[in-house]
Amino acid sequence: MRPQRTPNAQICTITHKNAQFARSTSAGRGFLWRLHSYRRFRERKGGVDAECPAISRRSSLGSDWLARAAGRSAWRRTLEYLVMPHKQLIAGLALLCATLPLTSLAAERPAILLGAAWYPEQWPESRWPEDLKLMEAAHIHVVRVGEFAWSRLEPHEGQFDLDWLDRAVALAAQHGIWVVLGTPTAAPPAWLTQKYPDTLRTEQDGRKAKHGNRQQGSPTSARYREFCRRIAEQMARRFGRNPNVIGWQIDNEYGAFSWDDETHRQFQDWLRQKYGTLDALNRHWTTEYWSQTYTDWSQIPMGPGGNPGLNLEFKRFVTASLRDFQHIQVQAIRAASDPRQFITSNFMGWYDAFDHYVLTEELDLASWDDYVGSGHLDAVRNGMTHDLTRGFKRKNFWVMETQPGSVNWATVNNALDRGEVREMAWQAIGHGADAVSYWQWRSALNGQEEYHGTLVGADGTPVPLYDEVAQIGREFEQAGEALAGTSPVADVAILHSYDSRWAINGQRHNQNFDPVGLLLSYYKPIREMLQQVDIVSPDAPLAAYRMVIAPGLNVLPDDVSQRLIEYVNAGGHLVLGPRSGMKDTYNALQTARQPGSLVPLLGGRVEQYYALNEEVPVSGAWGSGTARLWAEQLQAQSHDGDAAEVLLTYGESNGWLDGQPAVLSRKVGKGRITYIGAWLDDTLMPAATQWMIRLGGLQPALGPVPEGVEVSRRVGAGKEVFVLVNHTKTAQRVTLPRPMRRVLHDDATVSAADLPPRGVEVLRAK
Ligand code: GLA
Ligand code: GLA
Repeated sequence: MRPQRTPNAQICTITHKNAQFARSTSAGRGFLWRLHSYRRFRERKGGVDAECPAISRRSSLGSDWLARAAGRSAWRRTLEYLVMPHKQLIAGLALLCATLPLTSLAAERPAILLGAAWYPEQWPESRWPEDLKLMEAAHIHVVRVGEFAWSRLEPHEGQFDLDWLDRAVALAAQHGIWVVLGTPTAAPPAWLTQKYPDTLRTEQDGRKAKHGNRQQGSPTSARYREFCRRIAEQMARRFGRNPNVIGWQIDNEYGAFSWDDETHRQFQDWLRQKYGTLDALNRHWTTEYWSQTYTDWSQIPMGPGGNPGLNLEFKRFVTASLRDFQHIQVQAIRAASDPRQFITSNFMGWYDAFDHYVLTEELDLASWDDYVGSGHLDAVRNGMTHDLTRGFKRKNFWVMETQPGSVNWATVNNALDRGEVREMAWQAIGHGADAVSYWQWRSALNGQEEYHGTLVGADGTPVPLYDEVAQIGREFEQAGEALAGTSPVADVAILHSYDSRWAINGQRHNQNFDPVGLLLSYYKPIREMLQQVDIVSPDAPLAAYRMVIAPGLNVLPDDVSQRLIEYVNAGGHLVLGPRSGMKDTYNALQTARQPGSLVPLLGGRVEQYYALNEEVPVSGAWGSGTARLWAEQLQAQSHDGDAAEVLLTYGESNGWLDGQPAVLSRKVGKGRITYIGAWLDDTLMPAATQWMIRLGGLQPALGPVPEGVEVSRRVGAGKEVFVLVNHTKTAQRVTLPRPMRRVLHDDATVSAADLPPRGVEVLRAK
């Protein structure tokens, strides 16, 4: 087919695809989209090129739309016949209509989107229609495009070529596919880093990053940031009002940092701004220890490693630097784009190089890249990561990337089983994802990721997984109406704090004490029993929650402590896990025993903590089990005349713990505070959870289900939808508490759901 380099290629392409487009299930948008494309074409070229054969031969601007409106193909044929020769008339009509608001396109966007990462720059344009046709047939409605394409978008310094991208976006529209544009700033072109080597990152060992991989640009380099701003601005100017571009992804998977001298100076400046005086810094970091006292800002080393105060600040500095790096692009895009377009960036779950609450603050949407790697879906952990991501902005999110079968970077890149990709997709939706997008559509014929899972093979035809993904797409379309405007809602929040994770990871004291593992030990039983739970920052509003669990709130700043006290006084139940309330915001030990300023509220405190190399027996109100990895010897103390009650005590172990309290709980008015001083095993944690649920009068979203069946609930105005996913390899039956409608199948009203192995059921209760 044609290599489309002519100015009128866009219009030609658009009209060329009309026949297929007319068959598309989502055709209404076609008319407006073509008008828009036409308008853009006119804007750029100042008129219709008479050389465009497609226009004069078969211009059907508007005809699809009219045909749909009439719902009769005969109408359409008649109209096409009538309008075919009247190019000028059509052009005039198009110009007139192009002034109409184009936002109606967005309104038609399916509520739940299936997507793929598509790299049109890696293929001849003659291949694009075939790829998009295959995507359309798989019910893919969104592609992420442009990230990593910098050398194509700006082949030489200051020379931009966005026409090809415009054509790709326009062609995608012909297939009912919207576009998320990625800014390409994770892959600077060779000319840039060659001419300006100061834009390259310096690794922690002092080596300069080189061209040939990605993320070689330094996010702290002013020059690099300016190049990033400029390319983002160029893209935004071109696509910021394009109705088919629904959003932006800034960069890709932030995290790479630079250890160059300039960054080091920035860190020192950042500290100066934060602390004001060296006295304050020396005091908070207790630099008298090991003669670390600083008499000049330039003496302060750059983390990580070393003083815990410095370590925490370094993480915050990385966060601030990446936020600035991101902000420059956010600003450039916002200035030139329609507010209808969202801005996101794709994060990596529990990755802790920076504080995601800070980075997502100015984004419209959080998204993440959900990869299993080796092995198979760990449904609980993966569900927890979805909930983490939903908690970044406390609203629905996107799975911006996920594996079509296998990855190429794990120890063994095994494929997910047949049905497992669908199982994952629906789990994501249940947890509040509004889009699931596969990385990637097709592998570049060369490059570092040749072996990664794809939806079409090197030959350009579908791989076996394609059909499963097409099924997902079909189902997303079917369920769109039911799920539109719905989100998960929970009565219980688990607090997740980067400060606390950084502080514990910096000094684990027991190498196996993984703060995310601790969080999981709380999350698993509560998610399974209640079928809904939020994971939020300690800074999030808490009043709406009936229970707040802080598994390891090691760093407890005064303001957070104050809000927790208010929460309990207002009638909430606060549950603290081990290592809570030990540090202040500078990662220094609190001068009160744990849980610091919450000791009076608890009516008790930690006498001593012990890293465990052996399990310790624990028993009491929640039954019997063991503590592992960590045990704190607690003591109830009188406060306002009433001390905490002891719920669990340690059995015989190291002598110190024998017979001592392991869990304290105290009623405070209508509220309550509970402190769990040990990492409890898989017997005690569910028992503890049952106790919490009973005490709080909390109810599961749906009711009891067989083990391995995951229930998620999304609610919206007048809507209640359950997503049931069978994570087992055997068939399961779920008896429903009341009749519900099967959204994916026959829409029949049922009182039980029969789930095949790895099966999915979407049920509408309201
Ligand atoms: C060594 C050092 C001390 C202290 C202890 C801790 O003995 O001399 O300063 O660090 O280790 O175990
Ligand atoms: C990450 C990146 C993608 C790709 C995938 C492969 O998520 O964002 O560009 O490299 O990994 O799994």
